[in-house]
Amino acid sequence: MRASVTANRDYPIAKIDDRLYGAFLEHLGRAIYTGIYEPGHKSADKNGMRKDVIGLVKELNVPIVRYPGGNFVSAYNWEDGVGPRDKRPTRLDLAWHTSESNAVGVHEFADWCDAVGTEMMLAINLGSRGLDHARNFVEYVNGPTGSAWGDMRKKNGRSKPFGVKHWCLGNEMDGPWQVGHKTADEYGRLANEVAKTLRAFDKSLELIACGSSNSDMQTYPEWERVVLEHTYDAVDHISLHMYFANRAKNTAEYLALNAKLDAYINAVASTIEFVRAKKRSRKKVTISFDEWNVWYHSNVQDREILSGAKGWPEAPRLVEDIYNFEDALQVGCILNTFIRRSDVVKIACIAQLVNVIAPIMTEPGGAAWRQTIFYPYLFASLYGRGEALQLSVDSPGYDTQVADNVPYLDIAGVQDAQGGTVTFFVVNRHASETLDLDVRLQGFEAVAIKDHRTMAGVALEATNTLKRPTAVQPRAGTGAKLKDGRLTARLPPHSYQMLRLAAATG
Ligand code: AHR
Repeated sequence: MRASVTANRDYPIAKIDDRLYGAFLEHLGRAIYTGIYEPGHKSADKNGMRKDVIGLVKELNVPIVRYPGGNFVSAYNWEDGVGPRDKRPTRLDLAWHTSESNAVGVHEFADWCDAVGTEMMLAINLGSRGLDHARNFVEYVNGPTGSAWGDMRKKNGRSKPFGVKHWCLGNEMDGPWQVGHKTADEYGRLANEVAKTLRAFDKSLELIACGSSNSDMQTYPEWERVVLEHTYDAVDHISLHMYFANRAKNTAEYLALNAKLDAYINAVASTIEFVRAKKRSRKKVTISFDEWNVWYHSNVQDREILSGAKGWPEAPRLVEDIYNFEDALQVGCILNTFIRRSDVVKIACIAQLVNVIAPIMTEPGGAAWRQTIFYPYLFASLYGRGEALQLSVDSPGYDTQVADNVPYLDIAGVQDAQGGTVTFFVVNRHASETLDLDVRLQGFEAVAIKDHRTMAGVALEATNTLKRPTAVQPRAGTGAKLKDGRLTARLPPHSYQMLRLAAATG
């Protein structure tokens, strides 16, 4: 089977925002406790943070991390997590039916972000709390000393403002499961007032209003229209979430799901345009896709804790999906979609980063390792920065429940900012056929294949575990050729490849 692609240097989609490779950490299960924070661990730094995990997060070059939730944030009191540790209260976490010790709060998280070299993106509780809480929290984090909140921060060990730029105005407020769930009108009005108030404090903040929790919500996409009509002038981004699952064990359908993601982005981008036109506004609100990943493997085992049958356990194993090779292919397709829609998606956060539906797993007192999905995320984060290319793709396809003629070839192309490399991220969705890929390179003088990695030839169910942490990992690719302005490569059935070319612009 053949697939042909044309990549022309003069046809870019957009400059990719580095924040497309963000991540998310919630006070949920073992994401924080025994995930990033484990004071007794042999690799712990002076703050109790695991250096082995810091190393893996650094490897991923994560530009921004959303925190502290998620559903957790909708009943969270940020004040519980500041000040002397021995005075911090233990609270019941109503979102996940667990106990929260508050040993980690915004100060500890900020130190961890510094150690990792990433930026904080903080979510505000607009579920159980409201406007006053929002302004106090932002002033505590970013305000000057000499006022009550800034002085309190100083007393708690940090004189200099944290300077957090990105603020999420609540989390999944459309969801009936959310503490403080609201209608679109109720939320839109509140988010607008909060945004206005925060802007009175600092005009330069980037504010993110809640969009839909997924595109199957009954309120979608009307939710986006109503919320944006309330908030358009006051916010910068609208947030979307989507999780992928293969419950029916149908790989062909599963790997086509990014067509649904694409339609979701398209509908919300069109809604933004509709509201913009209605408001006669020149401003462009963009999408913050601040929760995305595969999530289904752990659903059944989590029922007991979520039902309350285990009481209120502290940092239990919860929402710990063990990813297989099929999921790595899926994550490759999702990231390709974000690159292709980098004209409107400016922030995206893999949900989550450690232990909880995460590319990184840890054993308490033991090792940390990379899940299968670590690798497509790694390659996109390292080499998917620069300008996304508008590729012309001619590939055979197949019909699915979510879309017709889904191409067997899923591909995204990125030219780095200096124009010195062109990288292709490629998935062959076909179960049994090799795809002969032929890429015509126009306007580039591709001089060499700089790097070629492949993930192929392993069972779709194969996983990485504590005992076998490297069962699924990329290998050096072979057989790709560059000749007369054409890149050719053989893509085995169910495979992922990253092909990086050194290129001079011609
Ligand atoms: O990431 C897990 C949960 O998924 C988050 O807490 C919530 O926002 C979403 O429903």
